Amino acid sequence: ETVDWDPGQAAKGEYDHFMMKEINEQPTALAQALEGRIDPDSGRIALSDFEPGTFEDVESVQFVACGTSYHAALYGSLTLKQAGVQSAALLANEYSVSAPPIDENTLVIAVTQSGETADTLNALRHAADQGAMTVTVTNVVGSTAAREADEALFIRAGPEIGVAATKTFSSQAVMLSLLGQRIAADQFGEVPSDLDSLLPDLESMPESIESILETTSARSIAERYEGSQSYFFIGRGLGFPVALEGALKFKEITYEHAEGFASGELKHGPLALVTPDTPVFAVFTGEEDEKTLKNAEEAQTRGAPVVAICPDGHRAVDVADAHLEIPETDADLAGLLANVQLQLVSYYAADLLDRPIDKPRNLAKSVTVE
Ligand code: AGP
Repeated sequence: ETVDWDPGQAAKGEYDHFMMKEINEQPTALAQALEGRIDPDSGRIALSDFEPGTFEDVESVQFVACGTSYHAALYGSLTLKQAGVQSAALLANEYSVSAPPIDENTLVIAVTQSGETADTLNALRHAADQGAMTVTVTNVVGSTAAREADEALFIRAGPEIGVAATKTFSSQAVMLSLLGQRIAADQFGEVPSDLDSLLPDLESMPESIESILETTSARSIAERYEGSQSYFFIGRGLGFPVALEGALKFKEITYEHAEGFASGELKHGPLALVTPDTPVFAVFTGEEDEKTLKNAEEAQTRGAPVVAICPDGHRAVDVADAHLEIPETDADLAGLLANVQLQLVSYYAADLLDRPIDKPRNLAKSVTVE
C-alpha cells in the first residue's frame, strides 16, 4: 500500500506556506539567537563567539550585503553609528566599484543568510585582499562565507525555505545590534550606557512578536487595499530600512508595484506619484515621529490612505486611515516589530492574489551568480 505523503507539505505543518510558518517561527528564532549571548549575571552582552578585545583595533566598519540582508545591514550600521562607531552599509554588488578605502583597521561584515550569495562573497574576498578584518553574520554553519571570513556569527534562525526572507531578517538585525554594541564596547572599553534600557526590550522581543502574530488587522488591511496601483512604505532612521524591506517583501511575493522611501524624501519627487490609489504604510519607531507623521499627512492630503504602524495610543493612530499595532518598545527595536506586521500584510496580499508565495517567479533562494 502506498501512502500519499508530500514531505514539503508535512514540513509546513499547519501552515499553507513556508513563509507563514517562518513568520510564526520568529519568536523561537530570536530566543535561539539570544540564547547565551546575554550574560544573565551582569545583564551585559556576552557574545563569547568572539575572543575578548577582538574588535579593539577597529576604526571603521563596512557592512556588505544584498536584498533583505542589505536592509538588515542598514539597520546594523545605523545602530553602530548611534553607538559612536564610524560605519556604512554597502550593497555587495556595488562594492567592487564603490568600496570606501579599506585598511587593516577596517572591519568588513558580510551579512548573508545563506552564506552563498556570489555578490556578497566577492565583496568579502575583495575586503580580505585589501587587508581588512572580516566577519560574516550568517544562518548557515559551514557555508562559504562562514568558512572564508575571519570570524562568523551565527544567527541560529533555523532553516528558511521560503524564498522571501522573514525570520532571518529579524534575527540578523537583532544580532547586528548586539554585535554593534560589542564592537563599541571593545573600542571604547565600556558598554554604551543606553544599553541598559535596550536589553530588557530585546529579551521580550519574542513575546512582543507573539502578540503581533495574534492580531488580525494585517489581513483586513491587505483586503481593504487590494487592487491599488502602487504601495508605498516610509520610515525614518531605523524605520527607513524597515520601509525598504516592507516594499521588497511586498513586490517580491505579490508582483505588485511597491517602493520604500525615507519619509523625508517623499516631498523630493515620489509625492508626484501619490493618489487615492497608492496606500502609504508609515513606520513609526519613536524617533522623530512627528516629522514622519507630517510626511504621511502630506501624502494623505493628496488622497492617499495612510496606514500607521505604531503602538496603540500613538498620535498617528488618530490621523491615519488604518492602524497596524505594535507593542511599545525601545526605539532600536520598534522597527523590527513593525516589520512583522508588514510581513503579514505582504503575505495576505499575495495570498489574495493567489501567488506562489514560497517560490515567486524569476527568483532563487540563494543567488550564486553575479
Ligand atoms: C529577500 O526576500 C530575498 N530572498 C533576497 O533579497 C535575499 O535577501 C538576498 O538575495 C540575499 O541573500 P543572502 O542573505 O542569502 O545573502
